[in-house]
Amino acid sequence: MSTLFTPIKLRDLALRNRIMVAPMCQYSADNGEANDWHFTHINSLALSGAAMFCIEATAVEAIGRITPGCLGLWNDATEAALRPIIASVRKHSNIAIAMQLAHAGRKASSHVPWDGGQLIPMSEGGWQVEGPSALSHKEGETPPRALDAAGLARVRDAFVATAKRAERLGLDALELHCAHGYLLHQFLSPISNRRTDEYGGSLQNRMRYPLEVFDAIRAVFPEHKPVGIKVSATDWVEGGWDVPQTIEFASELKKRGVDWIDVSSGGVSPQQKIPLGPGYQVPLAQAIKQATGVTTMAVGLITEPKQAEEIVASGKADMIALARAMLYDPRWAWHAAAELGGQVEAPPQYWRSQPSTHKALFGATSFGAR
Ligand SMILES: Cc1cc2nc3c(=O)[nH]c(=O)nc-3n(C[C@H](O)[C@H](O)[C@H](O)COP(=O)(O)O)c2cc1C
Repeated sequence: MSTLFTPIKLRDLALRNRIMVAPMCQYSADNGEANDWHFTHINSLALSGAAMFCIEATAVEAIGRITPGCLGLWNDATEAALRPIIASVRKHSNIAIAMQLAHAGRKASSHVPWDGGQLIPMSEGGWQVEGPSALSHKEGETPPRALDAAGLARVRDAFVATAKRAERLGLDALELHCAHGYLLHQFLSPISNRRTDEYGGSLQNRMRYPLEVFDAIRAVFPEHKPVGIKVSATDWVEGGWDVPQTIEFASELKKRGVDWIDVSSGGVSPQQKIPLGPGYQVPLAQAIKQATGVTTMAVGLITEPKQAEEIVASGKADMIALARAMLYDPRWAWHAAAELGGQVEAPPQYWRSQPSTHKALFGATSFGAR
């Protein structure tokens, strides 16, 4: 019996297994609007056998996009662009759809990765970025404008407006992006947050803005639907954000009803030294789960079915999220179910692909012809 393929419930959302397709920026939107690439990409991974697909980091306002190609949900046009894609997924798959709500803060206005990923100067079509403090991500870059009280309220309200649009689109869950050196992580980390007001300095103060944003979106998203968060559990820099602080943050989130913590790391400083290796972030998820009991997702270099099974079966994390492995093998969960003795849902158009050695892989299916 596979634990990876046992169900889990997040509020009223019943998931068939413990696998989420991790949010993955596609850098391919037009003015924040999804297009045929997103249609293809999302529909393809909606058939992956994972229980939940998380739509890529979705900017809550235009200046919060990492790159000019990043997806957004801040006006009627961006909402309308996503609608037919969601409708198509619903027609052909039972996968739950989450959306990652994001603001890039000082890491906005970047070139897409395949053009090098560096800051686009304003003179070359970039835009003035904003952050907790007027400190640039890399030395020599134009510093962000520090958000004042009106700016903080504007960005918080933008998160709320996007959460409402996500609900109007009928999405099942939200994940607040508080990782990888983007705006909310920039508030948490003493490396990027040097404010002297109530949003900077002590841990309590650095957590204040991310918690306010969490509370604000939780308040407008339907009670029965889950809201999770993705964190960087450590900056991998001496004196930066670390696991003990993440545990404090997770405890505060638990009090506020967070439904999962997706545990990543890094992204706030070019000085980071990341000990990359298979499942290298699993111990971070485990530490948070052990200390707080919050439902956690492990992510990062999880590529093998047995590896994933061991993570959830041993209780190191409750779920796993897969990014690159899913792009490489969009039927990863089918293959994992076959290997581990689990079951996945497949569309009837594909039932005939079921291997003769795994007659129950897609459940009770039958296929006839005259
Ligand atoms: C193409 C690509 C785009 C990504 N975009 C996002 C994103 O939008 N939000 C996010 O939190 N992480 C993003 N990530 C990070 C992944 O969600 C994941 O945390 C990371 O890749 C480690 O998991 P993996 O080893 O399974 O790829 C992205 C990763 C890739 C490969």
